[in-house]
Amino acid sequence: MSVPKNRGILIAGNWKMNHGPAETQKFFAELEAAWPSLPDHSGQALASDQLQVCLFTPTLSLQAACAARGKLPVHVGAQNAHWERSGAFTGEISGPMLRQVQVGSVLLGHSERRQHFGETDEGVRRRTVSLLEQEFFVMACIGETLAERQGGQTRAVLERQLSGLFPETGSQSGAARFLGSRLVLAYEPVWAIGTGVTATPEQAEEAHLMVRDFLDRQCGPETARKSMILYGGSVTPENIDSLLAREGVDGVLVGGASLKPQGFLALVAAGARAVGSKPA
Ligand code: PGA
Repeated sequence: MSVPKNRGILIAGNWKMNHGPAETQKFFAELEAAWPSLPDHSGQALASDQLQVCLFTPTLSLQAACAARGKLPVHVGAQNAHWERSGAFTGEISGPMLRQVQVGSVLLGHSERRQHFGETDEGVRRRTVSLLEQEFFVMACIGETLAERQGGQTRAVLERQLSGLFPETGSQSGAARFLGSRLVLAYEPVWAIGTGVTATPEQAEEAHLMVRDFLDRQCGPETARKSMILYGGSVTPENIDSLLAREGVDGVLVGGASLKPQGFLALVAAGARAVGSKPA
């Protein structure tokens, strides 16, 4: 998977700790059966990478997902991976292990990892740089909590997390050199995750502009322009169109609404509608 020149649209699902191998098989069987109901031009959008689709499954379901997706144009990714390639890191998985099961994409720095498992900005940076150097496609997540938003800290928190990922200036340093190719960012306000409270399209656009503004200053205007930034937090088939319509929202990262094949397909259909109708 890689970011197309005009950024395109990426619809990503994050199953979190849901769907073991058996449910994964069932999900893909149903998804395949319903796939022809996508709008006519979806096939072309998918073939040209203007529309890309990815599901981040639990580690134990990765192999089942890769086998069960058959010919469906759905990328399969892991929800985390360690920066080291092997060693004494109980409970972790590595890039080389993912390669063995044909997985080439990884989600990193999700707020649930940061909140419940103590992941730090520095840890997220190390994972991100290592997996990128191992040629993975990486989606790195950032976002503020409700208290931080209410305290007027949104920009400061996003800039702190982004500085963690991109500590040096310039388009060629660290992880920055992969923006526009194999690194995408997901803005996920913590207060909107799993709560049913979505950021309004205006709030999403405003935060995306803050992120792009930081990238402009830190990594340069060309890198900022080609960076793909997704929104995540209580996205549903009902609200996705208004989010994708906003400037700078290049796709969505979806938890709850990605768990059922019909719901996920409705999100993919919205992605297909948005292709071509978006200002970059
Ligand atoms: P949600 O989760 O769509 O269930 O709010 C989003 C996420 O955590 O990626």
